[in-house]
Amino acid sequence: MGLIIYLDGRFVDEDEARVSVFDHGLLYGDGVFEGIRAYEGRIFRLQAHIERFFESAKSIMLDIGMPPQEVAEVVLETLRRNGLRDAYIRLVATRGRGDLGLDPRKCPKPTVFCITAQIQLYPESLYEQGLDVVTAATQRNTVNTVNARIKSLNYLNSVLAKIEANLAGVPEAIFLSSEGYVTECTGDNVFIVKKGRVITPPSYLGLLEGVTRNAVLELAAKLGYPAVEAVFTRHDLYIADECFLTGTAAEMIPVVKVDGRPIGDGKPGPVTRVLLQEFRKLAVVDGPEIFPAKGETVAAAPRSLEARKGRLKK
Ligand SMILES: Cc1ncc(COP(=O)(O)O)c(C=O)c1O
Repeated sequence: MGLIIYLDGRFVDEDEARVSVFDHGLLYGDGVFEGIRAYEGRIFRLQAHIERFFESAKSIMLDIGMPPQEVAEVVLETLRRNGLRDAYIRLVATRGRGDLGLDPRKCPKPTVFCITAQIQLYPESLYEQGLDVVTAATQRNTVNTVNARIKSLNYLNSVLAKIEANLAGVPEAIFLSSEGYVTECTGDNVFIVKKGRVITPPSYLGLLEGVTRNAVLELAAKLGYPAVEAVFTRHDLYIADECFLTGTAAEMIPVVKVDGRPIGDGKPGPVTRVLLQEFRKLAVVDGPEIFPAKGETVAAAPRSLEARKGRLKK
């Protein structure tokens, strides 16, 4: 038996977890998703992911058909059914099945699924050595096209930049906005450190407001580093003392070269190292427990699963 997948109110084996070829998530990338991480029996910032999931859905006028609390329970229960304490979780809501036209009104019911599996984006050695990255010729979507704050199923903008990274022989590419400001990477947020200040671009430029990004901003401030959202250019990247990326899958990873320019002395910097260490400590204690001890409630999902058994059928 393979993985147990949540799909539209049922838990099914991965071989049975199928969606229609008429699903607009597939036909048009019409839908939203979240990538979430569980560490040592806790789901990191589940509440923040669920909130962003519903905000993305609201922006594209997609009714997920369940309240946030129930979606949080779906995530927890999928992990439980797979016996997973450490996992990468993919939560998806598509517009659902429609006809071959793109009108969302033809899709009466969303498709909602949750996959819990494993992921290791980069080997541990790269967290020690840091990454080489390039800036992409492909620009980030402007805010009045598909705002990158919407975590939509339409990732072609990122895929195009990823192809550029692949062709350049590096693992990631940094998008600039149409005005030339640094925004984010294909699947991560970007930070620089300059004269002790920890800086990341503001989300109004059109970038995903990463859950990891926000956690690292909070962590930096707590550790006494001035942590700010500020607009900066490629030049600022090249002359930064340090650079790193954040994301649910990558966690926090140093960058040591951008477009062939070494960052700082070409090695992961001291602030990056401290933040990475502290982030790893935070990740294992933050968030609701997947298997709470008897009698305890789950912070992100206070209503008991027993009460919902009727809705979450196997
Ligand atoms: C385009 C993009 N930017 C940034 C991020 C990082 O966001 P988070 O830390 O919430 O995973 C992701 C990953 O989900 C992403 O796909």
